[in-house]
Amino acid sequence: MTFEQRALLGRAREAARYAHAPASGFKVGAALVTLSGKTFTGCNVESSAYSVSICAERVALYKAVSEGERGFSDLLIVAQDGEEDSPPCGACRQALLEFSPDMRVAFRENGEFVTRKLADLLPDAFGWKEGEHGRLV
Ligand code: THU
Repeated sequence: MTFEQRALLGRAREAARYAHAPASGFKVGAALVTLSGKTFTGCNVESSAYSVSICAERVALYKAVSEGERGFSDLLIVAQDGEEDSPPCGACRQALLEFSPDMRVAFRENGEFVTRKLADLLPDAFGWKEGEHGRLV
């Protein structure tokens, strides 16, 4: 893990403290870095109407987008204070990919933190490019 990732891990763990996860008990935190150098954090927020729940990554993404950010370099995800693996779900991969397919995504896999390029986590992704629907990357 790089020095920068250590700092992001701290931010993501802090965010996970605010997770609202009465249904799953699985607390997730995310830290998302913009190309302009700002960091936005998020935690998962569950609802008693289960399908309304949202993941930590999309909370961070939508917070950033709602403040005018459109490009991202790094995302780090932590689950259960680093005690559990934390790969991003498919829905989050899709939501993030539309903004920055080249961003680095760090998460715990088989007990250790790995870093992947987002586009490699969602091959043959659907999306729109220049107004047309089709293959995104
Ligand atoms: N969750 C996230 O916040 N991020 C992920 O990448 C995986 C899953 C949340 C959704 C739900 O609140 C809980 O973890 C259990 O699935």
